[in-house]
Amino acid sequence: MLGRNKIEIKTSDQIAVMREAGLVVAQTLQLVADAVKPGVTTKQLDVIAEDSIRSAGATPSFLGYHGYPASICVSINSEVVHGIPGPAVLDDGDLISIDCGAIVDGWHGDAALSVPVGNVSAEVQTLSDVTEKALRAGLAAAVVGAKLSDIGAAVESVVRAQPHHYGIVVDYVGHGIGSAMHMPPNVPNIGPAGKGPTLVAGMALAIEPMVTLGSAEVDLLSDDWTVVTADDSIAAHWEHTVAITEQGPWILTELGNATR
Ligand code: MF3
Ligand code: CO
Repeated sequence: MLGRNKIEIKTSDQIAVMREAGLVVAQTLQLVADAVKPGVTTKQLDVIAEDSIRSAGATPSFLGYHGYPASICVSINSEVVHGIPGPAVLDDGDLISIDCGAIVDGWHGDAALSVPVGNVSAEVQTLSDVTEKALRAGLAAAVVGAKLSDIGAAVESVVRAQPHHYGIVVDYVGHGIGSAMHMPPNVPNIGPAGKGPTLVAGMALAIEPMVTLGSAEVDLLSDDWTVVTADDSIAAHWEHTVAITEQGPWILTELGNATR
C-alpha cells in the first residue's frame, strides 16, 4: 500500500501504459485546439474531446471526478483553470486554456495548453509563450538526482526573467500522477531550488504553470470549480505529464516523442 505522502514509482511497463494515455491526451488536445475559432461554444469542444478519448479506447478522467461534469476544462481569459464547458461562445481575441485527462488500463495522462482564439494581442500571446517556455524549463529540470523544488525554481526563473511583471499562481500546483490523476507530491511553480525529495527514475509528474498578466491572487466562482484571477487579468496555463527516466525527462503527453 502506498503511504499517504509516498511518491509512486512506476515500472517501465507502467510508464509505457502512461505513455499510451498521454498520447490519447495529446491527440485529443490537438483535435480540440484545431476546432478553436470565434463562434464555437466550449461545450462543442467538450464533445470533440470526449469522442476523441473514447474512440481511442480510453476513459476521460475528468468526467465525474469529484462530480466534475465534463471531459475537459476550458478556461477563458481571466479564468485560470477548471472552467466548465457550456454555452459560452469563443470570441476573437480570447485566450483559452484547454485541460484534458485520460485513463488507459488504470494509468493516467494529464496535459493542458493555451490557445488564442482568432487574433490575440501581442501582450496576451507573449503571456502564453512565456508560460509554455516556463513549462519547458520545468520539464527539463525533471531529471534523476534533482530535487523536486528545482522544477518550480526553473519555472519561476523563466517567468521572472521577463520584462513584464507576471503573476505566478501558487494556490494551485502540479502533482504526481500515475495510478490516479492527483497523487503526491505537490509540484509548485516557484522555488527556491534544492528542496524536497530527490527525483528518481519511475516517478511521473504533471507540471502545470499558471501565469497571469496581473495578480497571482485567485478566486473560486460560485460553481465551485472555475478559478479566476482576483483582478480579472488574463491567465495562461500549460501542462505536461513527464516521466523521470535514466535517459532524461520523457514528456508522455507530447506527440512524436520517441519511445524508450
Ligand atoms: N487536470 C487538472 C489538473 O491539472 C484537474 C482537472 S479537475 C477536473 O490537475 F475535475 F476537471 F477533473
Ligand atoms: Co494536472
